[in-house]
Amino acid sequence: MGRVLVTRRLPDGGLDPLAGHELIGPNADDSPFSHHELVAHAGEVDAIVSVLTDKIDADVLAAGAAGGRLRVVANVAVGYDNIDVRVARERGVVVCNTPGVLDETTADLAFTLILAASRLAHEAEADLRGDRWKGWGITQYLGRDVHGATLGIVGYGRIGRAVARRAAGFDMRVLHHARGNTGDTGYLADLDELLATSDIVSLHVPGGETTHHLIDARRLALMKPTGVLVNTARGSVVDEAALAGALHEGRLFAAGVDVFEREPAVHPRLLDAPRAVLLPHIGSASHATRTRMAALAASAVVTVLNGGMPPNVVPS
Ligand code: DGY
Repeated sequence: MGRVLVTRRLPDGGLDPLAGHELIGPNADDSPFSHHELVAHAGEVDAIVSVLTDKIDADVLAAGAAGGRLRVVANVAVGYDNIDVRVARERGVVVCNTPGVLDETTADLAFTLILAASRLAHEAEADLRGDRWKGWGITQYLGRDVHGATLGIVGYGRIGRAVARRAAGFDMRVLHHARGNTGDTGYLADLDELLATSDIVSLHVPGGETTHHLIDARRLALMKPTGVLVNTARGSVVDEAALAGALHEGRLFAAGVDVFEREPAVHPRLLDAPRAVLLPHIGSASHATRTRMAALAASAVVTVLNGGMPPNVVPS
């Protein structure tokens, strides 16, 4: 039996695979552990079940190595840009994530944002609630049609493909861009061409150095002024200030954003930008999916502590 640090409260049943192991955490009020606390605990546990807000950096991994016990970090997220995977590998610590169990739920949320941003649902609702709607008008809240539009999907992994399946039901023309040729219909090797051609762009690439500000001011300027940008991937993928500028200056029709560069902070210019639907990182937030994610992470811990290698080890 191992000693496992669980950094945050997880959905009921999510930790069942860890029955019999000694669990440390989460804090009674579910507050995140500070970096200092993570370092302190890393030296005395065999495993960490982390979430995407826990920075598992070189200091935490060094403390794990100094303690001589830490063998696995299982992140309850498909993204793992919060973990220094290279240092973990050097330290012999296995890093796992939760692929496959959140694709449909995250794609649902991406489509929520595609629809809400394109049809100005948020602005219209805000006016209604704020008593600014004084009656029906034929020129009010004129959005962009989603059906029949060209959707550009950036990153064509499981979630990107799940979004493409939904788009088929809306009679959309679907283009996609990925690092390598997928061989599928609609593949575009040139991201700039996809941005210039699409009516709606939805981002599904991982976070990290290689995708940092992939959508910067130059690329935003390539999008149609009637275009809609949706980001359910990672905040770091989009230059948030540049996006806010494009919305304020009417160079982009609308945006739907679920992830931010410095969560929980949101760039103030984006907060007051017109036609921006902003959500607090809820892409995978359904009961069933978050429970599956927790159970998958917990099972990976058990497998490693039993001397095995789970299928959901992150690629190096
Ligand atoms: C993930 O799994 O990386 C998501 O961002 C969590 O919602």
